Amino acid sequence: MELKVLGIETSCDETAAAVVADGRSIMSNVISSQIDVHRKYGGVVPEIASRKHVESILPVVVEAMDRAGVSADDIGGVAVTSGPGLAGALLVGVSFAKAFAFSRGLPLVGVNHLEGHMYANWLVEPDMSFPVVCLIVSGGHTDLVLVKGHGVFQLVGRTRDDAAGEAFDKAARVMGLGYPGGPSIQAAAEAGVAGMIRLPRSYLEEGSRDFSFSGLKTAVVHAMERSDREWSVADLAAEFQEAVAEVLVSKTLSLAVDTGVGRIAIAGGVAANAVLRNRMSAAAAAAGIRLTVPPPELCTDNAAMVATAGYYKFAAGLRSDLELNATADLPLAGR
Ligand code: KG4
Ligand code: ZN
Repeated sequence: MELKVLGIETSCDETAAAVVADGRSIMSNVISSQIDVHRKYGGVVPEIASRKHVESILPVVVEAMDRAGVSADDIGGVAVTSGPGLAGALLVGVSFAKAFAFSRGLPLVGVNHLEGHMYANWLVEPDMSFPVVCLIVSGGHTDLVLVKGHGVFQLVGRTRDDAAGEAFDKAARVMGLGYPGGPSIQAAAEAGVAGMIRLPRSYLEEGSRDFSFSGLKTAVVHAMERSDREWSVADLAAEFQEAVAEVLVSKTLSLAVDTGVGRIAIAGGVAANAVLRNRMSAAAAAAGIRLTVPPPELCTDNAAMVATAGYYKFAAGLRSDLELNATADLPLAGR
């Protein structure tokens, strides 16, 4: 019989709930974004985020079940993001999920947010074979992961300073573009030409699989301080996207080639970026590697990815008990 999992996600500034059948069919995917509230502060204010989650969680879950055309009786399990993220924000989702699961006698499972992001790929391609090289690029993380099986991960590389999404957000602020920075840089870049100004690409030491984006951010600050500009902010935005994408694509491809892994997947909010998607897809095609890319709305935070990750945990017999807690710095631990 079909297993309908209710997914819940409150790790940052989106209150999200989704119903996904058998980890592959999205019956509903509801997202209540707080971006408009946080925009005037130029970033997410944790205290406000928690309060907004408290207000939104029940209506969002009810709407997810309504849109899916199911009642609580049809739900077979509850999956919730338990970390990493903002402690107070995570706690709202975890507390709600525990109460819902307990009152309905349903199995509960905690999902790592980054694992959730990766599982957006299995949502769109359920029969994807292993191993897979997965690049996770979000607001807080830039991780290069070798996925050997469901829930079996090896963290191969990570950022040593800023995350890719954080670099987009900081650069956008310096360029006077709006929050969040990823979408605003992408929009501004449409009127620009990369290469009008040259930004650095940081590859770190020979053979390193780690990333560093703080130098790029500093270069943007210096560029904006110049009075003798022969380029526009749109040109700078275009160059910035190329600089980030080039390093991400190069390191992801070299891991796949060096390990002989024939599949690449990308995940997280920055994976919604059109330049990164295009460059990755061209490079993968040239190397004869299959690339899976979730649609942009499944790259940014959502609960369908959490429901799918939860489905595979349930399938593996994993459950969380009512001791499940929100863990702000939860590491991505493979089985
Ligand atoms: O995965 P996500 O929605 O939340 C976290 O887990 O952090 O990622 C948010 C990040 C933000 O830094 C945002 O600027 C970036 O993803 N982002 C983008 C795009 N859309 C969102 N970055 C580049 N291009 C985009 N189109
Ligand atoms: Zn995320």
